[in-house]
Parts: sequence; C-alpha cells; structure tokens
Amino acid sequence: MCGIVGYVGSSEAAPILLDGLSKLEYRGYDSAGIAVFDGENIKIEKTPGRLNALVEMTHDGKLLPGHMGIGHTRWATHGKATVENAHPHYNPSMTIAVVHNGIIENYMELRAKMERKGFAFRSETDTEVVAMMLDYYNTGDPVETIIKVMHRVEGSYALGIMFKELPGKMFAARKNSPLIVGKGTDGNYIASDVPAILKYTRDVYYIKDEEIAEITEDGISFFNIDAEEIEEELHTIEWDTNSADKGGYEFYMMKEMMEQPEVIRNTLNPHIVKGDIVFDELKISDEDLRGISRIHIAACGSAYHAGITGKYVIEGMARIPVEVDLASEFRYRNPILDKNAVLICVSQSGETADTLEAMRVASRAGVPTWSIVNAQGSTMTRESDVTIYTNAGPEISVATTKAYSAQIAVFYLLAMKFADAKGLLSAEDKKSYIDDLKRLPEQVEMLLNNKERIQKFANRYVSARDVFFIGRGLDYAIALEASLKLKEISYLHAEAYAAGELKHGTISLIENNTLVTALVTQDELYDKMISNVVEVKSRGAFVMAVTSVGHTDIEEHADYVLYVPETNKYFTNSLAIIPLQLFAYYVSAGKGYDVDHPRNLAKSVTVE
Ligand code: M6R
Repeated sequence: MCGIVGYVGSSEAAPILLDGLSKLEYRGYDSAGIAVFDGENIKIEKTPGRLNALVEMTHDGKLLPGHMGIGHTRWATHGKATVENAHPHYNPSMTIAVVHNGIIENYMELRAKMERKGFAFRSETDTEVVAMMLDYYNTGDPVETIIKVMHRVEGSYALGIMFKELPGKMFAARKNSPLIVGKGTDGNYIASDVPAILKYTRDVYYIKDEEIAEITEDGISFFNIDAEEIEEELHTIEWDTNSADKGGYEFYMMKEMMEQPEVIRNTLNPHIVKGDIVFDELKISDEDLRGISRIHIAACGSAYHAGITGKYVIEGMARIPVEVDLASEFRYRNPILDKNAVLICVSQSGETADTLEAMRVASRAGVPTWSIVNAQGSTMTRESDVTIYTNAGPEISVATTKAYSAQIAVFYLLAMKFADAKGLLSAEDKKSYIDDLKRLPEQVEMLLNNKERIQKFANRYVSARDVFFIGRGLDYAIALEASLKLKEISYLHAEAYAAGELKHGTISLIENNTLVTALVTQDELYDKMISNVVEVKSRGAFVMAVTSVGHTDIEEHADYVLYVPETNKYFTNSLAIIPLQLFAYYVSAGKGYDVDHPRNLAKSVTVE
C-alpha cells in the first residue's frame, strides 16, 4: 500500500525522502513523488513506475534543493498510475502540498463542492480534494485549518502537509491509517512505517487517530481534534538497522526465509522459562484461562492460514473449540460472540484494515481481544487488550515467510499454555514438547541448507500451468499456505484442497503431468493420504510428497519425495512449509520475476 515519508531539518530533504521511500518499496506501489520547499516555493516531481525513475528525474534529489519535504509511493486505488494521480497533490496556486495514505470515502461529494467553489482538479484521486479543502478552509492557523478538513472528510487518512506560508513547519494528521513521527538529531521525520526512517532515528511517536502533529527542525507538538496541545509518549524502536537491508541476498524473501531459525528461536525463547510456558503479557490466571469457552481467530491471507494451524493445535492439545474466520468475513457476518470467548487477531503489520475492524467488532461486543503482531507499536497492538509479539523483525518481502513461521510458533505455545492450565498436559508431554520446540530452529536450518535441491526441482516447473496442494488436518493448513505462496509470487494457478475433498470435484482437474504436492506428515492420516496420492497418480498426476523422515515407503507411490525431520505431530507445519516456501521462491525467481514485489500486491493492506 502507499508509503509516506517527510523530513524537516538541517540536511537536504530530497535525498532523505528518496532513501526513505526506497525502504517503503516493499509495501507495493506504482508511482512515486516528492515535494520540497526551497525557502520560497514548493517544487514537486512525480512519476509513474518505479522509484528509480524519480531518482533519475531529480538527479538523486539534487534538482530539488531545500530542507523540508514530503514524499509518497502510491498504490493506485482512485485512478490509474499516472503522473497526475501520483502524490504529492497540491492546490491551484501550489502553496499547499499533501501526501495521503488511506481512502477519503466521501471525496466525490467533497470534490463536487470544491468544483462549485471554482477549484479545478487535475487528478482522479480522492486525495486531491484534501489539498483543495486545505486551501478553501485556510484560516491562517494551520492546525485549525487541518481540523476543519478533518471534520469534513470521511474514511481513513494519514496525511503529510506543507504550507508555503509556513517555512520550516511540516504537519501530519491521521485517522485509521498508520503514521509515526521520528525525532532525529539533525531534524525530524514523519513516516507511514518504521523502516523509512530507521536509518536516521529509532525514537518515534505514534500519532493516534484524529490527532495532528506540527513538526519543525527542533520541535514536535501534538494536538487533538479540539486543537488542544497534548503530550505523546516517545518510544524506542528495538529493531536492528541491518534487518531492513538485503544482507547480500538477491531478494528480501530469501534473506527472510534464511532468518527463520533465528526468528523461531526469538519467538519461542521468551515464553519457555524453566520448563514452563510463560505468557506474562496475557495478565490472566490459569483459572481465567480455564474459563475461556471458545477462541475466535480472525486474520487475512497467510496470517489466516497461521490461524488454521492454531485451530488444529489448540483444539488438539487443549480441547477448546476454535473458530477461524477471514477477518473480512468476520466483520460483516454478525458473529455470535460469547463473553467467555476471546478473539485472537493475527497480523504481521498490525495495520490490516479488515483485521483491525474484526477486532473492533469483538471489542464492541465486550469480548477480550488478543493480537499476535509483528510490527511494534502498530495500531493493532494499541487497540487490543493483549499483544503477543512475534519477534521476527521487519519483514520487507510482500510474501510473508518469517512472520508466518513466528505466528505458528506462538500458536504452539498458546496451545500448550491452555492445555497446561486445563491439566491436559502431563509433565512428561510438556517436557517432550518443549524439547521438540527447542529443536525446531536447527531442523528448519537443515531444511534451508538443502535449498539447491528444491531449486533444481522448481526449475522444472517454471512453465507449469496448474499446481495442486493436498493434505489433511494440519497438512491441509500447510497446503493452503504453500498454495498462496506459489500463486502470489509466481503467478501460477495453484489450489489447495483438503485431500478428502478431491473426489467431490477437484480430481477432474488432474491431467497428465499436473503437479500435485501431497503433504503427508500426520501419522494417523498417513494411509488415507497414500490413498489420495494413488488416486491422483492414476489420473496422470506427477506427485511430489512432503513427509517425515523414515516414511520411505511413500517412494513407491510418489514421483519425488521431500523429507522433513521428525518432530511432534503438532509442530510439523514449521518444517513442512520450508521446502514449499523455497519452491515458490525458485519458481518466481526462475521466471525472472521481482520476487519481493509481486504485481498488484501490497505488503500492508490498510484499506478494505
Ligand atoms: O500484515 P498482515 O499479516 O495482517 O497481512 C495479512 C495478509 O495481507 C498477508 O499475510 C498476505 O496474504 C501476504 N502477502 C501473504 O504472503
């Protein structure tokens, strides 16, 4: 989704804006632009396409000298990716420049009104109306003017604003779209996302909904919607600055896959203390845990698939009913929510609009909300009653890998915590599960070290048409995630099916040499899966099986077998997904695609 960066200080603004925007490329975009105030005028350059084009156009920013500026990467929603539609937008006299993330839902009505007042629009965007309104309602007091506009716009926005009459003062405002203010040593920053400014500062303020920030080189003030000055708390970002770089890999996705052993270790370790599972952040007694009658999980995309793993593991270990919903469905289906239930929202970004809204639905119904989130300080962490962090560090590639692995690790721990509180986990099982959990990072590493074998296999499938993933139980959860991974970055048609469903229609799609990936890691479902492998084989499929070491007899049925190390039946997803992430990566790279930035996709989906 769109990205925002802004700077005011003693350095040249344009190079900082371009650098910051490059750190936001991962969010997905199709045009980019910057506006710089040179002391007299606001100069704007923008272009459709990649950021490099803007870098070249502006000679690395040198053509736009000045110490204050705002920049934007746009992911088209209202109007195509054209120069006119790219941000920053401005008023007719070019004295006000605006960048915006989010959607102004009533922009048609507002635009009609502004046109009646004589404002001529240049773009098809919802954003331009903000620039025109800032002009129309300008009282000379910037905070008052911005508030007048905030009162009139509906929808979501994170705004960066500059006024020509106010040299050295940049403004920001937000509602339902993330925005931070960074406090630096030679100036201050605004950004939609931490990586944009991590190189310059780790000290940030999170602007809250319906708040405004006024930022100068050496001061930052915050105001509420009543124009009263308010205090905000300064937070320190713990992320390692290197973690937002590619670290020598061709794509972030490979770097992030390779980080998984460490990420899983960092997610598990804080919760395993002296042979026990500890969740201080839950702030809940074992008795209250036992009182939870039902768990709802709401999430989108891969986070939803992590939730499906969570369902199987929690129901299996702790015998608590778990309902998993796509957040976009949950928010509108009028779910039946019991006060003794809890809603767990899962999100890498902590900003996904549908997941946030699902959380608000549960909150309004008086149901406690927990979030499993990766991005520190994101909206979800501030709105949920409890946050459990996945310690995956910044994830840049649009296709999630390490954050997903961390999310399922949290579900293992939660399942054990619930099971233990309910007296369903014997001391012996607890010890053996913890031993298995501790072995996961090195087992994942072993699988990653075998990546060349997957690469060779993937090279044969760069021109495949359809790929199917089948599994039962926890293996079905992996089939879903593996299929999404492949289709989102390789643009191949991929489908995941519960293997028992094949006979109910899907099997008619199998033709000679169709690749079917069979997930076969669950011992109690092994024979059933072998039957499904035989079924598709006899219709001509080429079967790649993923199973645990020792099951060599599967070679009699499958054409190609990938073995994953042995672990507890509940934790196999952490291992089985690794070769399939690699497979998706190598098919995409083999086709010459930009693996980190798949077409039409955004890293953080902050609009509905
Ligand atoms: O930031 P979130 O975890 O809430 O994002 C949810 C999905 O948009 C995300 O998992 C998406 O499906 C990924 N591109 C999958 O790789």
